[in-house]
Amino acid sequence: MISGAAFRPPTRADGGDAVTRTLRYLLAQGPSFAAVTAGPGPIRWADATGHGTVTPPAVHAVDTLGAGDVLHGAFAWAVAQGAGARRADLVAALTSASGVASRSVGSFGSRAWLGPAPTSD
Ligand SMILES: Nc1ncnc2c1ncn2[C@@H]1O[C@H](COP(=O)(O)OP(=O)(O)O)[C@@H](O)[C@H]1O
Ligand SMILES: [Mg+2]
Repeated sequence: MISGAAFRPPTRADGGDAVTRTLRYLLAQGPSFAAVTAGPGPIRWADATGHGTVTPPAVHAVDTLGAGDVLHGAFAWAVAQGAGARRADLVAALTSASGVASRSVGSFGSRAWLGPAPTSD
């Protein structure tokens, strides 16, 4: 389960900074792996036994509209391609997705970076 850093859990929780509390809240909803994105900043992830970060590539951001949606879609795609849902697989999927999302913010509009649709001949 992935959220943006602006997300605020609806329940009060003690301990740690805001992202730590959000990660704990997300994991409490049932997923085995949670992450919080923060624009150009490090994405923080956590699971039941550990935590870490993935740093998105530095890009010249032109338009960040839709970046979170791109990251979610690219993460789902990467997980669907992968061999499993172990921590290493999910961190790899997150790393791949952050690269796609960061690329998407380099052009104006949420879809311009995709290029022309493939033809079907
Ligand atoms: N300024 C930026 N530079 C590089 N990557 C970015 C930037 N803004 C967003 N991204 C990429 O898009 C992902 C999601 O962006 P984020 O702003 O955290 O989502 P949301 O806007 O949905 O809260 C980031 O984790 C990162 O990979
Ligand atoms: Mg954003």
